Amino acid sequence: MATIHSTAIVDEGATIGETTRVWHWVHICGEARIGDGCSLGQNVFIGNDVVIGNNVKIQNNVSVYDAVRLEDDVFCGPSMVFTNVYNPRSAVNRKAEYRQTLVRRGASLGANCTVVCGVTIGEHAFIGAGAVVNRDVPAYALMVGVPARQVGWMSEAGDRLQGIGRTTDQAGVTYELTETSCRRL
Ligand SMILES: CC(C)(COP(=O)(O)OP(=O)(O)OC[C@H]1O[C@@H](n2cnc3c(N)ncnc32)[C@H](O)[C@@H]1OP(=O)(O)O)[C@@H](O)C(=O)NCCC(=O)NCCS
Repeated sequence: MATIHSTAIVDEGATIGETTRVWHWVHICGEARIGDGCSLGQNVFIGNDVVIGNNVKIQNNVSVYDAVRLEDDVFCGPSMVFTNVYNPRSAVNRKAEYRQTLVRRGASLGANCTVVCGVTIGEHAFIGAGAVVNRDVPAYALMVGVPARQVGWMSEAGDRLQGIGRTTDQAGVTYELTETSCRRL
């Protein structure tokens, strides 16, 4: 059974993996699905229409709103922000217009970054602290700034990858880089 702190509120029906840890003041809505081995830090909110894979780390003060999907091994830095309405107006109900955000396996989202809804963040991409992501992000891309621009590539271990062609990171894993792509060999 998941480890859930006594101050957390887990609505009836939520699915939470056995070895997942839920820390202080978390709120999980009843239709959320959360995998195994995850950690939900203090003051995290998980909406109903949310699917979270295994081994996902969500740091303090992150709200995972409806229409967000997080695959396995995703890291959400403290106070980063998801969105689900592209053009919100308080007087206009846009609940039928949510845009889906997909964060693929192994991606890291830096502290205080914002992900504008409707984008896909590729496998093992790395979003720098404070970036605003408003376009799809290629696998392994390192993105920084407002709006986020690609400044390089990051390995699965979180090392910068340099050059074009084959390169090996500090963990001994080899990647093939082109001007526009990165793949693990
Ligand atoms: C991206 C990061 C990993 C640094 O990677 P790095 O390979 O060491 O990059 P560098 O520091 O050499 O920076 C490369 C360039 O990007 C810029 N840059 C790096 N991080 C940036 C950021 N978050 N926002 C804006 N610009 C950034 C640098 O200023 C530098 O610019 P320059 O070439 O004009 O001088 C780090 O800055 C970062 O954002 N880490 C995330 C930390 C975090 O959120 N942790 C959460 C858990 S506590």
